[in-house]
Amino acid sequence: MQYEIIVLAAGQGKRMNAGRNKQFLMINSVPLIIHTLKLFEEDECCSGIILVINEKETDEIESLLQEYLFNKEIKIVAGGKERQDSVYNGLKALCGEEIVLVHDGARPFVKIPFIHSLVDMANTHGSAVLGVPVKETIKQVAEDSAIIKTIDRSDVWSIQTPQAFKVEIIKQAHQKAAEEEFLGTDDASLVERLGKNVYIVESDYKNIKLTTPEDLLFAEAILSNWSNR
Ligand code: CTP
Ligand code: MG
Repeated sequence: MQYEIIVLAAGQGKRMNAGRNKQFLMINSVPLIIHTLKLFEEDECCSGIILVINEKETDEIESLLQEYLFNKEIKIVAGGKERQDSVYNGLKALCGEEIVLVHDGARPFVKIPFIHSLVDMANTHGSAVLGVPVKETIKQVAEDSAIIKTIDRSDVWSIQTPQAFKVEIIKQAHQKAAEEEFLGTDDASLVERLGKNVYIVESDYKNIKLTTPEDLLFAEAILSNWSNR
């Protein structure tokens, strides 16, 4: 089934501490954002790519897109202050598919079969996200560092992107969040506030988001035997 995707690259990458937007960092000599975009360039079910960027980085992005030769058209949209604002701007640029995916530009290792399962799940249920069961023991901790309790991890998941939605649902969710000035850390949380179910599709632990400097080491290791299938 066909889908459009919004790829988010308009952040600052502060936690990466690289002095610039992490999207431009090289992994095995190719910029992070190019690794991510190439996944969707190669997926025949992806009918349109909307790339949300910091307006100030337009020239740099455009020259990368020329250098790395894409067959699909990549529509460039200016991002906003928060991630949620960037998604909102991306939603305004959609071209008419029934399903939209929202994906972090900083997450270059999502496998295509997971994307297709995710799209099917969203088509059936309206909203779906990729995720993995947490591996560590999870505890709730008070401000004074004392442990309050241990959370039963059997039903706790770590949530990734892409997140997939029927377009009317995610637009309604963002509209409501904007009206109520609610800021969520992902798009699914906005849909949850509508009282609608969001379903998880189990992904793998390689679908990391590059957030802090050591993630670059993990990324190089993953890339050393990477296949998108
Ligand atoms: N993002 C965006 N617009 C924003 C903030 C974030 O498009 N206003 C994007 C980032 O470019 C990234 C994704 O959302 O691909 C996930 O966000 P995160 O990992 O937090 O990236 P940054 O916000 O860039 O990093 P940091 O929070 O460390 O500054
Ligand atoms: Mg951020």
